[in-house]
Amino acid sequence: MSDKPLIVLVGAKETIVRIVKSVGVEVLLIDLPTEIDPAAIRLADKALAIDIVSIKFDDLFKMIASVSPRKPAGFIAVSDPWLLIVSHLNKAFGCLGASPETTLAMLNKDLMRKILDEIGIPSVPWQHVQKESDLVGFMTKYPGPIIIKPVDGRGSRNIYKVNSNIEAAKELWAKLVKLEETGWLAEVFLEGPEFSVETVTENGRHYVITVTDKHKNNNFVEIGHRIPSQLAEDLKKQIAESACAVLTSLKLNFGPAHTEVILTKQGPRVVETHNRVGGDRIGRLCEMVYGCHPIAWMAAKLANISPPKIYEKPDGGATIAFFTPTPGKVKLISGLEETKNIEGVEEIILSVKKGSVVKEVLSSNDRSGHVIAKGNNTQVSDAICSKAIKNIQIITE
Ligand SMILES: Nc1ncnc2c1ncn2[C@@H]1O[C@H](COP(=O)(O)OP(=O)(O)OP(=O)(O)O)[C@@H](O)[C@H]1O
Ligand SMILES: [Mg+2]
Repeated sequence: MSDKPLIVLVGAKETIVRIVKSVGVEVLLIDLPTEIDPAAIRLADKALAIDIVSIKFDDLFKMIASVSPRKPAGFIAVSDPWLLIVSHLNKAFGCLGASPETTLAMLNKDLMRKILDEIGIPSVPWQHVQKESDLVGFMTKYPGPIIIKPVDGRGSRNIYKVNSNIEAAKELWAKLVKLEETGWLAEVFLEGPEFSVETVTENGRHYVITVTDKHKNNNFVEIGHRIPSQLAEDLKKQIAESACAVLTSLKLNFGPAHTEVILTKQGPRVVETHNRVGGDRIGRLCEMVYGCHPIAWMAAKLANISPPKIYEKPDGGATIAFFTPTPGKVKLISGLEETKNIEGVEEIILSVKKGSVVKEVLSSNDRSGHVIAKGNNTQVSDAICSKAIKNIQIITE
């Protein structure tokens, strides 16, 4: 064992292990036996494949002690299912981290809205929906489009827009009650373009890395992001401030956050926020343009090492775009090799191959892969990305 500080990564894949190791720490990877990534195990210094969901903390402490004599400098999770447990672990070990209360308020969309209303942060009219009459009552009070979504959803699954039609809403509700969700939330539909705000927080102070432009399909699934946003600076400032106000209201004291915001005519309104790096490789885009991956920042801070510098001004632009081929069975994929050589193309990941079945994109999991591009600015990175996406033909039948 080296004398490097120990960071425990929960539920992470190879890419994140690599980023954390790059700051000069030792990594202990913990994941479910059914989920643990073999490539991540190879890269990590130690790995424990255990059922972290049901294990007692005392037993977990003993297991961690059995693989490392050192007390962990901190625990990090990069995906929603692990955020709460990691917040409890950081608290139990006396490490820096968002509190369990903050984490829970970010994971539960009802709770977040309730707290924002109590504090008086501009939010959106909302209602917890337990039965049909709750939905009808909400739609009667707020005639106009609404969104119905799971209280603790992720990956944009089961997000429905209803356009003032109460009969259609009743029909939809009859279907929703059959789905395996823990609860439902109705919100007035926020009209406007959507962004995300990438931040890191230390001692309760939020540092805005960037505002990100977001592209969605008709089912509210993200199909592209670019950094930095092309919006006017004053509007970006408003969006960033609204995100930081929400982070303060939810008492985030430490770590990266990813906050989604819609810019309405009445001003920015937060859709949701999480105390983790943005998914969809947004951390990588931050690193490409601002010099530091938020996870590297976090790992370094936990380990009391100087983190990579976060540039104040962007160094170019970066874009990620997702493949959304026509649903069907993949017959042919072409253009991959020559597209890899296009200048500015940084990463191509295809999650389908010949014979795979492509579904309609109803959640993030239905996308077929992505391209990441870097350019001197976001117009250039956008253009490279579009060219790459067009070049790679995923033909379905
Ligand atoms: N009140 C609303 N008004 C308008 N659009 C909304 C509203 N709530 C959600 N949406 C749309 O649905 C998308 C998904 O909603 P939300 O972020 O709450 O769900 P999620 O499943 O946690 O998303 P993800 O994990 O993909 O970020 C939002 O990014 C936004 O485009
Ligand atoms: Mg979201």
